[in-house]
Amino acid sequence: MSRRKVYNWRPIKGQPLTELDKKILYLQNKGHLVPSRDLIKTPEQIEGIRRSGVVNTGVLDLIEKEIHEGMTTAQIDRMVFDYTVSHGAIPAPLNYEGFPKSVCTSINEVVCHGIPSEKEILRDGDIINVDVSTILDGYFSDASRMFMIGNVSPEKRRLVEVTKECLEIGMEAAKPFGFVGDIGNAIQKHAEKNGYSVVRDLCGHGVGLKFHEEPEVTHFGRKGTGMLLVPGMVFTIEPMINMGRYDVYIDSDDGWTVLTDDGLPSAQWEHTFVMTETGLEILTH
Ligand code: MF3
Ligand code: CO
Repeated sequence: MSRRKVYNWRPIKGQPLTELDKKILYLQNKGHLVPSRDLIKTPEQIEGIRRSGVVNTGVLDLIEKEIHEGMTTAQIDRMVFDYTVSHGAIPAPLNYEGFPKSVCTSINEVVCHGIPSEKEILRDGDIINVDVSTILDGYFSDASRMFMIGNVSPEKRRLVEVTKECLEIGMEAAKPFGFVGDIGNAIQKHAEKNGYSVVRDLCGHGVGLKFHEEPEVTHFGRKGTGMLLVPGMVFTIEPMINMGRYDVYIDSDDGWTVLTDDGLPSAQWEHTFVMTETGLEILTH
């Protein structure tokens, strides 16, 4: 593969190179994609994102407690809005690029970006992803969980469990001064070993000062490719794993809902992480 060199990391004018500068510049000169300096969060920024993550986790814990068969996804949306606002925060999805609700609710063959609705009722046997993103004092956090409603078939249950393992395995594959591709490679292997496929068209992302920042965190790929992982980077891992083929399409009626082409179920789990000197730390526990 040939790629035009990208010189993201620049020395600070008038200052001597640090060991970190030397390490990153060396890898950049070898042709690796490295972060720009502004992707390395300060300790203050990381604390801000962590506080945002506490509210985000509170939302998901509330949904976990309250979710039940027979309720509508609009009820979930109202709980997310009320909890978030009463904790001094803002639901990041609301009005984001025109998204009309405070949370994404994605049932069965809906991969992601499902829009809560009064007409959509949780049924026995459904699996649902609730994807919550929070802005607190300008800091963004982002996490999602799967919930199983009533008696879920063993096939769907296994999809939910393997997808959770994919997130955990991806997290463990991410090492300081490793690469984003190490994460995707580990996730893809685990998904495919279990007979599933990894959605290609959507990925994880840098997060913190904006909803979506660099890098793109693909959930498939080759080791040693993609952006260098440097301590202080904050990003999501959020594998979408399909029971059948990986192809997806967007519902043309609402312009948001992403569905599997083959109509088979899809699952997703997500956390926001900070890279440390020793590995990833979860900011949305
Ligand atoms: N929470 C999603 C993510 O993980 C983004 C949803 S965008 C929205 O990146 F507008 F649909 F909310
Ligand atoms: Co995300």
